[in-house]
Amino acid sequence: MTRLSSNEFTDTVSEYRKLHDDGATSSDERKGAYSTLVNQYYDLVTDFYEMAWGDSFHFSPRFKHEKFYAALKRHERFLGRKLRLAPQMKAVDLGCGVGGPARYMASHFGHDVVGVNANAHQLGRARKLTQKAGLQDRVSFAEADFMNLPFEDGTFDAAYGIEATCHAPDRVKMFSGVKRILKPGARFAVYEWALTDNYDGNDPEHRRIKKEIEEGDGLPDLAHTSEIDHAFEAAGFEVLETKDLAGEGDPETPWYQSLTGGDFSLSSLPRTPVGRVITNNALNVLQKLRLVPEGTKQVSDFLNAAADGLVAGGERKLFTPMYFVLAKVPD
Ligand SMILES: C[S@@+](CC[C@H](N)C(=O)[O-])C[C@H]1O[C@@H](n2cnc3c(N)ncnc32)[C@H](O)[C@@H]1O
Repeated sequence: MTRLSSNEFTDTVSEYRKLHDDGATSSDERKGAYSTLVNQYYDLVTDFYEMAWGDSFHFSPRFKHEKFYAALKRHERFLGRKLRLAPQMKAVDLGCGVGGPARYMASHFGHDVVGVNANAHQLGRARKLTQKAGLQDRVSFAEADFMNLPFEDGTFDAAYGIEATCHAPDRVKMFSGVKRILKPGARFAVYEWALTDNYDGNDPEHRRIKKEIEEGDGLPDLAHTSEIDHAFEAAGFEVLETKDLAGEGDPETPWYQSLTGGDFSLSSLPRTPVGRVITNNALNVLQKLRLVPEGTKQVSDFLNAAADGLVAGGERKLFTPMYFVLAKVPD
């Protein structure tokens, strides 16, 4: 199920849990250990993600009569249009996962793209899937930490990050690095995970939801939308547009619907509460039979807690996974 050996997997699960144990590790320590945290997280969950999500690991607003995957692709096209992606352009995809958005957007808009990812396991999958799609001449990948981008100044015509920059321990530092590798006038757009104005840090339930999302999704600390705006400005970008897209689409099909079981189908089963219980029970049995490594069930447990946190955060509108920011490097 994962490329880690059984013992490595078990150790990784317990180290990851320790990093998220408030008694043992503070938020500052988590930020300090961010690359371990994120890498361990994606080593553990990528196979689960691919099973439930396909090759694009993000959410999207959705209309009533729209299929789950069609909505994901529409959300990717929205970003591409805002970036004005076109043939002859060279873009960078920051935190590219297994490359689903990079491949789709490059096919749709005709530009070249370099996907950056710190997780070697995901990059292995990304390269394989890109080869299979015959896109290897235009879609390439670099194994790198987006906090330290290994590109010359002014290399790219556009940059984007889809639900990935939330993993950065210091956004100003990260965005400053992105600005350095962009050409003057180039656009940078993100879909960010963020807390909204409805989040109340004094409310224990809100704090519990925030914690479930952080632990279940490999995040050091969730930021408020205003902190994200400030980070763009502090890094020297000109902010062109900001919008929480969580309210787009139809109210009957909110972005978190696929986690509630509201769109039940065979292919959506792993994302739904029923499917999650089935998977969880099956993993429990497989773990007892030693067919999957010790700790697999724990990963499934915290992914389930994360899904509950995401739904609760979405329903109370205190959290969004699609805070859209479009910015440009001054000319
Ligand atoms: C939720 S996934 C989104 C993936 C992709 N953007 C998509 O929509 O399919 C977040 C991605 O960010 C990557 N990531 C997190 N921290 C990173 C870092 N410091 N440097 C590079 N990639 C990072 C993870 O490995 C993962 O691929």
